[in-house]
Amino acid sequence: MTYAIEAQGLRKSFRTHEAVRGVDLAIRQGELFALLGPNGAGKTTTIHMLTTMLRPDGGTARICGRDVVTEAADVRRRISVTGQYAALDESLTGWQNLTLFAGLHGYTRRESRALATELLESFRLTDAGGRAVGMYSGGMRRRLDLAAGILSQPEVMFLDEPTTGLDPQSRQELWEAVRRLVKNGTTVLLTTQYLEEADQLADRIGFIDQGKVIAGGTPEQLKASIRGKTLTIRPGEGTDPADICKLLASEHGLEAHKDEDGQVVKAAIQEAALAYAVIGTLFDHAAAIDDFALSEPTLDDVFFALTAARGKEVAS
Ligand SMILES: Nc1ncnc2c1ncn2[C@@H]1O[C@H](COP(=O)(O)OP(=O)(O)OP(=O)(O)O)[C@@H](O)[C@H]1O
Ligand SMILES: [Mg+2]
Repeated sequence: MTYAIEAQGLRKSFRTHEAVRGVDLAIRQGELFALLGPNGAGKTTTIHMLTTMLRPDGGTARICGRDVVTEAADVRRRISVTGQYAALDESLTGWQNLTLFAGLHGYTRRESRALATELLESFRLTDAGGRAVGMYSGGMRRRLDLAAGILSQPEVMFLDEPTTGLDPQSRQELWEAVRRLVKNGTTVLLTTQYLEEADQLADRIGFIDQGKVIAGGTPEQLKASIRGKTLTIRPGEGTDPADICKLLASEHGLEAHKDEDGQVVKAAIQEAALAYAVIGTLFDHAAAIDDFALSEPTLDDVFFALTAARGKEVAS
């Protein structure tokens, strides 16, 4: 089977630092694959190698069966990489930018105009189409960038953090645009800081940490890999989240951690009944609690469990 994106043992070092240490990927045509991982994990470096911008030190990668090193020009014709709005001309309107790009991709004047109008509409930019791009908000710019990216009708699109810094409304609109792309058969590899975004959008997810893919699967498979439930405790005024973590460890042997900027304490528990015992303990120690919840694990919990397990591996 020919995969849209295929990598085997991809490696890249910067001086002595091994940024990517043997990444394997096999992404089918029409799949939406999300690459997740902490800052510095090697996501962007991997994308740079897959998009021929950076030469791998080792391993191989193919896009639609073409080698990223020996057939780089062919690969480039088949892909689009967003996040480079340097390509957009700030002084021109959205519509002018798109007609210009269309012209560069070989469309006639007439076709270019029709295509620009159509793209503005499908990215909900019709009203903004007549305004200079320099005046666009971050969300509008990303949508225009995506529209420009699909003009070349790429088989594979790479979106490196397409929604970072966008407000919820703009994120939703961008998701819709990405969903439409995938529906039309484009293969998409994206990275995101927002795990719940990957949960909603991705067919499959790969977790990358310290330059290696450490877990992968559908969002459902990944969440099912954590057995039990997630216990979330929001301490009230005067209660230190760190003290709650210590209590859960000493009284119940639970491995708790702080989340949401240290505002809440989370712990994975195997049995719901344990939650009652925890409440009792907090009550006995007069710990003030604002909120207390038992829920199904989220991708954030999976991510935490994976990186925590890896931390232990490295330490031992
Ligand atoms: N051009 C470069 N020169 C030196 N080191 C680099 C270079 N590019 C990346 N690195 C290093 O390689 C590692 C991986 O970086 P990369 O940008 O791929 O991470 P990332 O997963 O995309 O992180 P983020 O979530 O912050 O975008 C980091 O330690 C980074 O400092
Ligand atoms: Mg990055």
